[in-house]
This record gives sequence, C-alpha cells and structure tokens, in this order.
Amino acid sequence: MALFITNTNNITNFETTYHVLLNTELNKSFSIYGNLKKQISQFAQSQSFEGNYNESFIFNEIDNDKSSSKKFIGLGAKKDLTNEKIFRCASSITYSIVSSKQKISSLQIVLSNSFDNIKVEKFLMGLFYGHYYFDKYKSKKSNLNDINITIISNNISNSTFTKILNKSKNVIEGVNMTRLLVNEQPEILTPAELAKYANKISKRKNVTCEIFNEKDLKKMNMLGIWNVGKGSANMPRFIHLKYKSVSKNKKTKKIALIGKGMTYDSGGLSLKPADYMVTMKMDMAGAGCVVGVFEALSLLQPQNLEVHGLIPSAENMPGPNAYRPDDVVVGLSGKSIEVINTDAEGRVILSDAIEYANRLKVSEMIDLATLTGACMVALGNYTAGLFSNTVRQAEKILKSSNNAGEKIWELPLDEDLRSSIESNIADIKNSASTRYGGAITAAMFLQHFVDKSIPWSHIDIAGPAYIDSKRPWLAPGATGFGVMTLLDYLGAI
Ligand code: BES
Ligand code: MG
Ligand code: ZN
Repeated sequence: MALFITNTNNITNFETTYHVLLNTELNKSFSIYGNLKKQISQFAQSQSFEGNYNESFIFNEIDNDKSSSKKFIGLGAKKDLTNEKIFRCASSITYSIVSSKQKISSLQIVLSNSFDNIKVEKFLMGLFYGHYYFDKYKSKKSNLNDINITIISNNISNSTFTKILNKSKNVIEGVNMTRLLVNEQPEILTPAELAKYANKISKRKNVTCEIFNEKDLKKMNMLGIWNVGKGSANMPRFIHLKYKSVSKNKKTKKIALIGKGMTYDSGGLSLKPADYMVTMKMDMAGAGCVVGVFEALSLLQPQNLEVHGLIPSAENMPGPNAYRPDDVVVGLSGKSIEVINTDAEGRVILSDAIEYANRLKVSEMIDLATLTGACMVALGNYTAGLFSNTVRQAEKILKSSNNAGEKIWELPLDEDLRSSIESNIADIKNSASTRYGGAITAAMFLQHFVDKSIPWSHIDIAGPAYIDSKRPWLAPGATGFGVMTLLDYLGAI
C-alpha cells in the first residue's frame, strides 16, 4: 500500500525504467544504453518523439528469457518547465500503475540532469500523489500494491535526498488526508465526524483543537452556522485548530485559514435540481484543505508559525426546522443577513468564521470555499478564483500557487456590483439581484464581514477541488487542491 523510494547514482538492469527528460537530453539518455543507442534513437524517431511535454514512448527489449521496458517521457524545453508539469509527469507514472492491472513492484526513474533540489522535491510529491485511489466502497480494490522506486539523480547527496523525500511524503500525507475526507460519503462524514478527524491531529505536538457543538454555537451567537445547519439531523460544528511553534525571540505572524465545511449541500429549501446535487459531498473541500494543511504541519513541524484553522461545518438540508428564504439571520458579527436563497449557504456560515478570526486579531486571513458554480463558469475546472483586499497578499498567494503547481487566477472585487447584494430589510442579502458576476458578489458578501485592517483573501475552489472522471495523472474524485499552495505560503515547504 506504500511507496518505498531510494536514490542512487547508477542505473542498473531493472525490468522497468523511466527516463524523464528535456527535449535537449534525448541523445544523452539514449547513450546510457551503449550499443542499443542507435536502435532506441531510431525507434524514437519512428514514434516522432522529440521530448516535448506529454510525449512518451516505450522501448521493449526481450533478451533471452529476460524482458525489460524503458519508457521515455518528455518534459519539453527547459525554459517552459514548470512545477505543475513536473508534478503531473511524476504523478502519472504512479497513477498509471494504480489504474492498470500491471503487477509492477519495483522500477527505477532516471531524472533529467537539469533538476535542482526543488524540482526533485516536486517530482517526489507527484509520485506519492499518483499512488492513491479511493476504493473503500469497491469490492474489487485498485492496484495499490507496494512499489520500490529507485531514483537516479546525479546532482543530489544522500542526506539531502532523504530530507526532501520525508518532506514530500509528509506534504502528500496532508493532501491525501484532504482527498479522503472529501471522497467520503456524506452519511458518514458529518460535521461531528469531520471534527473527530481534526481532533485526532491535535494529539500531535504543537497542535490543539477546540470543537463547538450546536449548543455552544447558539450560546456564542454563531447563528449563521446554526441557522444553516439546523434543518439537518446531523448537527453543525465549529472547529478551531491551532498550530503554534514560536520561538521567543522571533516575531511571528498570526494567520487564520478558514475552510467552508458543508458536509452536504442539497441546497436546503431552495433545493438543487437532481443533476446539480450529485457531488455535493465535496462542499466541505475548503474545510478538508484546512485539515490537510494541519495534518501536514503536524508532521513537518515548521518553526516560527502560528496558524489558526477555522472550520464552520454544517449540512444544508430541507425539513421542518430548516432556515428559509425570507429569514433574517444575525450571526456573530451582529450584522443582519436577509436570506434570499438557502443554497447560498456557504457565505452565511463563513461570515461567523470570519468574525471569529477578526476577534482573534490575526495578522491575516485566507478562506477556501467551494463557494460558487459561477466561479467554474468563469475559470473552468482546473483553476481556482482568488479575491483579495490586499495586493501584497494576493501576489504572495499567486507565487505560492505557481510553486505548488496549482492554478489560481485573480478576479476583482468590483464596487459597481456592491449594490446587487444590498438588502431592503437587512444589512446585506445572501444572493445577489443579478446572476452575472456570481463569484464576485459571493466574495464581496464575505468581504462585508472582514475587519478592513486585516489582509484577507478568498479562494473559490469550486472548480478544481473535485473531478468526475480520472485524468492521466489523477484519480477521479477529490484532488486535495490548495494544500500545497497553502503550505508553500506558510513557508512550511
Ligand atoms: N456549494 C455550492 C457551489 C458549488 C457548485 C460548488 C458547484 C461546487 C460545484 C454553493 O453553495 C451554491 O449552491 N452556490 C450557488 C449560489 C447561488 C444560489 C447564489 C450557485 O453557485 O449556484
Ligand atoms: Mg449551496
Ligand atoms: Zn455550498
């Protein structure tokens, strides 16, 4: 069920060998094979292999009774090489084994000579990421056997490699924790169950976890979460995770990460049409991401960091106790919300979490939420939307997204749209009077609750958090999107 990865300087006679190469490294790679070079080179030409990104070919050799296969995978030109490409390339190597019937228990991978430590690290993360499949409910389990992988890379010492390997493994432990939570069926993964997972992490060093149940929520005035959750038999929770490893002499920032935790979004009384309801177990992907980040932090134990993970969690259901369109909800902030559409529930529960972060007097906050279908219309399934009240913070997030190989694109908070969320009877309404710019008006609703002196960014992950069908490098279902970007942002990797 696991990957065992080691490194060495020399290529040996393995049954399965992968070569990961730039478009300038064909000759060098083929040369390793001495007298076979010409044959491989000719075969490459017959396959029109030029080493471009996404190009590959397999050279099979049957020598007496021993057969061996060499796969050459192109990365393209050095100047166009990105961490995203490296990650996907690596992930597709392990995922192609998982999604096939091949019984491969060991292989070696020869890395491009151009890889520095950061690129090797990203590659290793990809290998771990690809070796995943959520098969809990399948009678026929997927091909997740142990695989021994030998990495051949010339530029790296054994001790550095071991360090990078452990780091990559811990990061993907976090990412795969997120995937597990998001993939789990909603009957099992209720708000209380999500809280249990968070609480488990607090058994580790430097992590604490406070859980507030429905009674606490009412007592504390967190009535946004309470109102959205009260229609369900599975009562809401608010989860406060904290990671603190601060040395006395260093000044550290206090960062809040907020994640939307709808364990199921049926739409509530504003019920979703059947086709739109399927996959709504993934509406806690923001929360899953925050829990995944804490899982990784607890394993990585980075220094000089104070992070607060805030998760409002509820199940949005219709029923005799459900909140309704026309209700006016006043939550922790004291600001009143006119409910227009009970399906715009994410922003209502997030408003309490944002006010909670204001009161913690954090130096900055970032929220992640599968908030709007409109964001998917705007950016597609591969890219998250970013909204921010602070240019510097947004730039830093975009840089981290680039390092992580997770695509994020900034959209504006457009003051011209503000009037569309103004209410006649309350301070704000939860659904705009226009359909257009739905991702923006949702973000501006959140902004209404953020203390103006605190840098805040909102990442709408509705698109990239979950996929219906597999991709060459990625199992279907939850993607764990956002964990790597946030860990990079926190300086933990
Ligand atoms: N959880 C959904 C958004 C969503 C849609 C996430 C598709 C992932 C995939 C959210 O709660 C929602 O229902 N949003 C509404 C807002 C509308 C009622 C203003 C939407 O996007 O339609
Ligand atoms: Mg909804
Ligand atoms: Zn939702």
